[in-house]
Amino acid sequence: MNDMLAVRVEGLTRTYTTDGQPVTALAGVDAAFARGTFTAVMGPSGSGKSTLLQTAAGLDRPSSGRVWVGDTELSKLSETKLTELRRDRIGFVFQSFNLIGALTVEENILLPSKLSGEKPDWHWLGSVIERVGLTNRLTHRPAQLSGGQQQRVAIARALAVRPDVVFADEPTGALDTETAAEVLALLRSMVDEFGQTVVMVTHDPVAASYADRVLVLADGRIVRDLPQVGAEKIAEVLATRWKA
Ligand SMILES: Nc1ncnc2c1ncn2[C@@H]1O[C@H](COP(=O)(O)OP(=O)(O)OP(=O)(O)O)[C@@H](O)[C@H]1O
Ligand SMILES: [Mg+2]
Repeated sequence: MNDMLAVRVEGLTRTYTTDGQPVTALAGVDAAFARGTFTAVMGPSGSGKSTLLQTAAGLDRPSSGRVWVGDTELSKLSETKLTELRRDRIGFVFQSFNLIGALTVEENILLPSKLSGEKPDWHWLGSVIERVGLTNRLTHRPAQLSGGQQQRVAIARALAVRPDVVFADEPTGALDTETAAEVLALLRSMVDEFGQTVVMVTHDPVAASYADRVLVLADGRIVRDLPQVGAEKIAEVLATRWKA
């Protein structure tokens, strides 16, 4: 496949069964994410945003359809190979940071490289740690840090292996406006300065305006694919489409 693409999904569906009833989380999504780009994924609660990220990241298997990370097609991989791919080629950032409380900042950041058994790229790690502003915090534990600092550690951890793509599911959802802006500027700079690829779910039009592109989901399908636009325009699109 095209090497300019970090991730591609084709005909992606995901149906869950709850109390014997099928629930369609994804109803056929086709999307491609170019390397070195920042995409925001928006849409109402329950529209399938997290499911799209989880299936594209190999954290969940789709019911049908295919996912490529670079030129690796995920459905062909064994569980072991899929685990390795997730660890070595994908970064994930969660709303709730998900750091390990017993480990220091440095140990949290180094954990993915340690688990992969590969020698860390110290030059890369040094640049990431410096850019996220954690140089003076490396021996601290997550509980000693603010929410914004913890999220910066999580971002550094996600980037440590220099992944093909970083998926972030509402990374600023638990942060105040000012701290959120710092985290968004950081994600933006990872794309601009380091050529990383970021796909971020958000409910906030201001957060989405940091991205190069905004995908809008509704009922498990992509209903809008917008180029970089301002927050006001994004809010307008969301309102026109979904206000009762
Ligand atoms: N593990 C699961 N088991 C059953 N149903 C699920 C599961 N995960 C998601 N769903 C259902 O799939 C649909 C899409 O969920 P998803 O979490 O992807 O939405 P979302 O767009 O991320 O919503 P939110 O903005 O609230 O986070 C919803 O109807 C949800 O209830
Ligand atoms: Mg979600």
